[in-house]
Amino acid sequence: MKHQIKSLEQYHSDYKLSIENPEIFWADIAETFVWKKKWDNVLDWNFEKPDIKWFINGKLNITENCLDRHLEIRGDKPAIIWEPNSSDEPNRIITYKELHEAVCRFSNVLQNNGIVKGDRVCLYMPMVPELTIAVLACARVGAIHSVVFAGFSAQSLSDRINDSDCKILITADGLFRGNKTVNLKEICDEALKTTPSIEKVIVYKRTADTIDMKMGRDVWWHSEMNKAATKFDAIEMDSEDELFILYTSGSTGKPKGVVHTCAGYMVYTYYTFLNVFQYEEDDIFWCTADVGWVTGHSYIIYGPLLNGATTVMFEGIPTYPDAGRFWATIDKLQVSKFYTAPTAIRSLMASGLDFVKPYKLDSLKVLGSVGEPINEEAWFWYHDNIGKERCPIVDTWWQTETGGILISPIAYVTPTKPTFATLPLPGVQPILVNQQGEEIVENGVEGLLCMKFPWPSIIRTTYGDHERCRQAYFSTFKNLYFTGDGCRRDEDGYYRIIGRVDDVMNVSGHRLGTAEVENAINEHPNIIESAVVGYPHDIKGQGIYAFVICDKQVNDISLFTKEVNEVISKIISPIAKPDRIQIVSGLPKTRSGKIMRRILRKIAEGDFSNLGDTSTLLDPTVVDEIIRNRK
Ligand code: WTA
Repeated sequence: MKHQIKSLEQYHSDYKLSIENPEIFWADIAETFVWKKKWDNVLDWNFEKPDIKWFINGKLNITENCLDRHLEIRGDKPAIIWEPNSSDEPNRIITYKELHEAVCRFSNVLQNNGIVKGDRVCLYMPMVPELTIAVLACARVGAIHSVVFAGFSAQSLSDRINDSDCKILITADGLFRGNKTVNLKEICDEALKTTPSIEKVIVYKRTADTIDMKMGRDVWWHSEMNKAATKFDAIEMDSEDELFILYTSGSTGKPKGVVHTCAGYMVYTYYTFLNVFQYEEDDIFWCTADVGWVTGHSYIIYGPLLNGATTVMFEGIPTYPDAGRFWATIDKLQVSKFYTAPTAIRSLMASGLDFVKPYKLDSLKVLGSVGEPINEEAWFWYHDNIGKERCPIVDTWWQTETGGILISPIAYVTPTKPTFATLPLPGVQPILVNQQGEEIVENGVEGLLCMKFPWPSIIRTTYGDHERCRQAYFSTFKNLYFTGDGCRRDEDGYYRIIGRVDDVMNVSGHRLGTAEVENAINEHPNIIESAVVGYPHDIKGQGIYAFVICDKQVNDISLFTKEVNEVISKIISPIAKPDRIQIVSGLPKTRSGKIMRRILRKIAEGDFSNLGDTSTLLDPTVVDEIIRNRK
């Protein structure tokens, strides 16, 4: 396949070309696609503003490249294989022709319900094919999709809808998750009390639970689809028109809406999917993420479909009906490339090999890892027991803001090394800097990971607040994109991501800001103040440790914990529940009132040996007290 790197020598020569002449390199890849009009210039960029444009003045619609482009040669090839929550329910297989028709139909539904180019549409859905259909239909009509993970609370949903003034909400009556049923519509109804911009709600029927439908506002997916025509000419989009918004946590305040645009995102997700996983035409590719996160956007939907691949969509959880579900499904669907998160690997590892042994797993060719650092034990377990020592592991490092994978082995090309994301992909120019922003050029060092040159799917802005984007990513170090990650580069020039250096936690691969969790905890009526830090957790990677100050004595600690968890679940999501809560009488603060999180992180880790200088604290005795009472 053209543009596929087949040897280490080719990697080095393609990499060299991509650095010396990025515009020629990326233009050649962009030629793969159908354009309504070709671009005038490939790239224009400025990291200070920031202002980054790729494929300037090009006109296209990404869905023509995900769907229409494939119809002639792959019309009857499965585009999506859907694996339902219950292994007793049959799979659904949707061919490219069928997906194209469904997307066209739903594009008409959106248009019939008043959506025009540039409108924002919020999706809060289960992991069903209709989610992919809705995402692509938004792109086809030129609406900007904002998918919200269906595990978020009503309040989180309403905040996200309001931040980008979404006009339509697409949801379902409910969802199945393991042996639980969640009434999604009820959560939506709660959220919709405070979302004035929403004019229509389109409801997909999944669980057939009784729900309220508000006349004039709520319509059923199936009845709208029945009324809609099956043809829809894709709307012409500019390369830099916004494709989607995806909210993610940062170190301060509320989550921000990361914005990606049409052409650059298309070119980059296509290219990285093709190379990192060494995509082949007969692959069955399974990424276990939820479409509510960037991994689902880029490697369940866009990357695979742009390549004409067969992508698996899984509705359930890894432990239902038992901890062998992933492995059973791999055998059943003959999955060849499998992409999951370290947290899933660690939890399945803890369930024991009896859940792996019954399965052959001989269809597998490549294993992927994403979302957090993979520890050595999990790496070897995955490599030995799932990949049977024959499948390369691609440890892919990237972020919501990067749109696609930046640092990763290329399967069968880059020699892997446990826990290392290894080398940058072509077009990616990482550098390590020290706290002062000076580049560290040697190998065998640690530093802050930055990028000194744009790749096509770099974040363009944060929705409605460009200054926030500049502040968060482009202002820490001049002329660099700052990732927020600490990183080691070894003697071979291989990169190993250590973890966040800012106040962002990574809990089971979910990004959560400490400030966000603190703000939620502080809503508990008896909590005056709190400080939250991440600490090493065997399964989750990081757990959440909350230090809280209460206004009155807490007698029933288990009741108190339950209340705190309820508050968090209501305001954010159950994924943000603290693993440990410690009631304290004070927090270690500097004289200027700043919480010394460094000290709290050490205490949470259980490492009291090297707390550093505590003499600048307003009241150093609180540290002793916290240590004494640590659980
Ligand atoms: C972390 C997920 C180590 C990192 C695609 C990054 C990783 C954050 C890896 C982004 C990896 C992601 N090794 N750490 N292979 N992949 N991370 O936005 O800290 O949900 O900054 O994107 O996850 O999380 P996000």
